[in-house]
Amino acid sequence: MSKPHFPARFISFEGTEGVGKTTAIKALATKFDELGIDYIQTREPGGSPFAEKLRALLLDPATQINDDTELLLMFAARSDHLQSVILPALSQNKWVICDRFVDSTTAYQGFGRGFGDERYLAKINQLTESFVPKLPDLTLWLDLPVDLGMSRAGKRSAADRFEQQQLEFFSRVYDGFAYLANREARFCRIDAQGNADEVALKIWQAVQSRLLTN
Ligand code: TMP
Repeated sequence: MSKPHFPARFISFEGTEGVGKTTAIKALATKFDELGIDYIQTREPGGSPFAEKLRALLLDPATQINDDTELLLMFAARSDHLQSVILPALSQNKWVICDRFVDSTTAYQGFGRGFGDERYLAKINQLTESFVPKLPDLTLWLDLPVDLGMSRAGKRSAADRFEQQQLEFFSRVYDGFAYLANREARFCRIDAQGNADEVALKIWQAVQSRLLTN
């Protein structure tokens, strides 16, 4: 079978804690493997050697920083990741599957930390316009009730600095994703309440209809 010749695209996965991103990404990557689609799989914060160092600091429960510092570090990590990993991959016609991207900053820093304050959201937009030359072509928002996701996430090992937050914080993060889903045409809401196969199928249908049609 000859390889499909679609231009490489940038796909991000988003959602609150415990929504099943890891499993969903694995399923999409397996599908790409079967079809011979060339891709890289990466994540934020992190994805490049330097950004992974920042990730370790950002997630470390011992880290004490103010909200602006956290915001700027997210963008510092993203800038390095974009310039050294994402943009080179796309220019080599490799698809990019990214576990979280700039929408997590709007949701976690803008809504979680900043309570959706319009001035704070405007700062995030300015940073995005200045330092993020490429946005995802498709953003898959895995939508799951916050309490359900948190009980799933809670079953995993020691909580990182974000996972230590309380339900109200994650409810605001959820509102952030819902806000983005209403505004951004690249957003696709995926109901993440079904089993892994059902979620994977919905994702594949979204990728096919949005990115793999002529
Ligand atoms: P992960 O647990 O999905 O790997 O993500 C790491 C944590 O970082 C998660 O709690 C969300 C948080 N995060 C932000 O607060 N802002 C961001 O811009 C990104 C990319 C992640």
